Formats: sequence, C-alpha cells, structure tokens
Amino acid sequence: MILPILTYGNPILRQKATDVDKDYPGLKELIENMFETMYNAQGAGLAAPQVGLSLKIFVVDATPFRKDEKKLEGFKKVFINPVIVEKQGKEWLFNEGCLSFPEIRENIWRKPVITIKYYDENLISREETHDGIAARIIQHEYDHTEGIVFIDHITPFKRRIIRGKLNSIKKGQVRVDYKTIFPANKQKSFN
Ligand code: NI
Repeated sequence: MILPILTYGNPILRQKATDVDKDYPGLKELIENMFETMYNAQGAGLAAPQVGLSLKIFVVDATPFRKDEKKLEGFKKVFINPVIVEKQGKEWLFNEGCLSFPEIRENIWRKPVITIKYYDENLISREETHDGIAARIIQHEYDHTEGIVFIDHITPFKRRIIRGKLNSIKKGQVRVDYKTIFPANKQKSFN
C-alpha cells in the first residue's frame, strides 16, 4: 500500500523517533508499504517519520545510483533501531533531495564512511561499514529518525535563498506526482 508522505512543516518530521519494539504489530507490512511508497515516489530512501510514524526505521534502495557506483546495484536494506557508531573521513559534497521537500535540491557536506549498528528486517543484529553514496543515503535517512532534515546542513545564507520554496511547500503550493500530506491543509493530494 502506498502511504502519503509528509512534507516540510509537519511537526512529526521534527520529532526524535522512538525505538521499534520487536513485537511491533504489522512490522513486516509497514516495511513493505515503506518500500512501495519509496519506489512509487522514485526515492532511494524513506524513513518512518516521513509516513507519519515517529519510529526508528528506514528503508534504502540505492540501485538508482548504480551508474555512479556499480556495487549499489541491488543495495536494498532495512534499518531498524539504527545507531551510527562512527563517521570517518573528509566531508564531501553531494547533491541531495528529499521526498518531504519536493522541488528542492541542495549540495550537502557529509562524511564519506560510516559504521552503523541496526536490526535488519528479520530482527537480526548487524554492524556494517558503508562508504560513498550508500553512506550518504544512510546518513540522510538516519537524520530523519533524529528529527533532522537535510536543509539543516546548509548555511543560513542558502536557507534564505530557498525560503520562498520552503513556504510554498508549507502551503502545499508545489506540484508532486506522489501522494503527500502538506502541513497547510492536511489533505492528501493525488496529482
Ligand atoms: Ni529525506
């Protein structure tokens, strides 16, 4: 089932998410729905707060970046109760977007290598190190579970430049071809 995606201005995107209980009802279905919602919106990652659930869970499929990094073909993962335990290397810039910020793209500085502990979709504990674009997407989605969004990483100057665009999102005045809930009207749009 495709779920509506909350857009910028919705307070849920600003909440620090809580841990997922291993007995959380419908966890498998939620994961399926999150993937379906992400693919429908042509995203490479989606975090539970973006679909209105303040839970520490996000999904990633980095396959769209296989042309940049061959190893990303089939890079499909579920991260439950993730903790980034280490970030390493010299920050690098990459142009990011976010399904909660239609029509906004910004160059964001992030570390190139991260080590993350999490539970996978079978609730098996894992610890992995990722680099490059995978590390980039994981950090972006992890931020969502902390109530942080990608534009929090840009300078106040750049933020002023996109202020008009941000206000348009808050008012629901942007065209989106996936199901969303804009904070202004709390309505679902089916463009
Ligand atoms: Ni995002």
